[in-house]
Amino acid sequence: MHKDRITVDGDLGPVPGEYDIAIIGGGPGGYVAAIYGARQGARVVLIEKDTPGGTCLNRGCIPTKALVRTVEVYRTMQEAARYGCRGENIQVDFGRAMARKNRVVAGLVRGVKSLLDTNGVTVLPGRGRLVDNKTIQVTTNEAETLIKAKHIILATGSEPMRLPIDGATGENVIDSTQALELEELPESMVIIGGGVIGMEFAFIFARLGVKVTVIEYLDEILSLIDSDLSHEVFRSARTAGIKIHTSAKVTSIMEGEDGKAIVAFEHAESGEPFPEVSGEKVLMAVGRRPFLEGLGATQIGLELEANGRGIKVDEIMQTSIENIYAIGDVTGKLMLAHVASHQGLVAMDNILGRKYVMDYHGVPNAIFTDPEIATVGIREEEAKVLGKTVKVGRFPFAGNGKALTLGMSRGFVKLITEPDTGIIIGGGIVGPGATDLIGEVTLAVQHRLTAEQVARTIHAHPTLPEAIFEAAWAAESGALHLAD
Ligand code: NAI
Repeated sequence: MHKDRITVDGDLGPVPGEYDIAIIGGGPGGYVAAIYGARQGARVVLIEKDTPGGTCLNRGCIPTKALVRTVEVYRTMQEAARYGCRGENIQVDFGRAMARKNRVVAGLVRGVKSLLDTNGVTVLPGRGRLVDNKTIQVTTNEAETLIKAKHIILATGSEPMRLPIDGATGENVIDSTQALELEELPESMVIIGGGVIGMEFAFIFARLGVKVTVIEYLDEILSLIDSDLSHEVFRSARTAGIKIHTSAKVTSIMEGEDGKAIVAFEHAESGEPFPEVSGEKVLMAVGRRPFLEGLGATQIGLELEANGRGIKVDEIMQTSIENIYAIGDVTGKLMLAHVASHQGLVAMDNILGRKYVMDYHGVPNAIFTDPEIATVGIREEEAKVLGKTVKVGRFPFAGNGKALTLGMSRGFVKLITEPDTGIIIGGGIVGPGATDLIGEVTLAVQHRLTAEQVARTIHAHPTLPEAIFEAAWAAESGALHLAD
């Protein structure tokens, strides 16, 4: 499969145990970089202590989306009468739903392994530790091996954080990984943290019949999203029976007499206690932190970010040691799979002598709540804080034919443009297909397209992307299918 081998600055040559590039961590950052490098003829070794695919494939994006799909099917069946269909005795078989989720994951893991294999990446199972800037110790239960590499990419990812409060490590307190391994649906669940993980799980479990309470420290859920978008999800969460407490700080978790966990919390500012809530399970979703344990990063002198979290990197993903790069969650930047993959390509390009820099201005966010939310580029609220004047074109899905046929007409698209040039610098979508639709807006933001260019692009009818087309018109002279 290898093309002619490239020479990576002082190539070590095809000696066993010696590689051009060693990558520690096989998530969407590490494995994509490995395939990309190997395709160009570099001798690449990928060290992975677990299953290739990392958090995203094994314990994050993919399994949660498989469950989101189960919930969608269930909900559609429950609402069958709305569509003129009849269905009776509709139930969820949680065991089967989890088994399907596991099959989806297993299929993708097989795919990743096969891609690594066919592209000639050497995969070393085991835990990697930096011995010096060119040597890695790989440890398995049975053996320790030393390998050498001219360049190293660190892609060890992140791990869930636990609040430093009493009861945080209790038996009923789980993190997102354990939530994906539940064998039975709990009757009730308290979710600490109304961020992305908290709200995605809140909808999954609530729709499956679990009594869900979300406790969020800040004054709103999904705080990094414009409020007009997150309010749609907030309202929908209420309708789904999810209880949400905001401006609420969890202080302790105790075990009640009935075996349930009792969560005590207080007003985040005044400290006034709220009535406690109890749940069969407590899901801790208060953020993730870079995974550096046992990596030997500081021992070999790698600089960390000022907050101590994450390996410090520059715009080409190079660390403070010249031949070592770091990508993905371990850098403590944007913890998103697609960002990790892109950072991996940038790191690999630079190792292979091509000068690409990481550009974060067009990074899409996709949140799989119900309705979905997706954003890219500058936020409207962020523009206000920065004192930047923007023009916003909005279009509601209620005016989109396809959304009405789907019976999903809640939500809207908004495009944020520069008033003088009409260039689209950001966008947000809440509603049907938002996480897929954001692709078009991302292309526009990344390539600095104007609202006029999008408005003058023929969009197929009847489709959801027409809502983007209409929002572009709204940012220009007015949406066509909306009264002024
Ligand atoms: P997050 O930072 O999105 O949310 C954590 C939430 O917990 C915040 O809203 C925070 O205010 C709250 N919190 C912190 N301390 C608290 C306390 N004592 N009491 C109550 N609430 C408290 O982190 P999350 O949801 O754990 O996700 C971790 C990372 O994974 C994020 O970077 C996220 O972007 C990424 N991710 C992305 C997904 C996507 O793009 N679809 C899906 C899942 C995760």
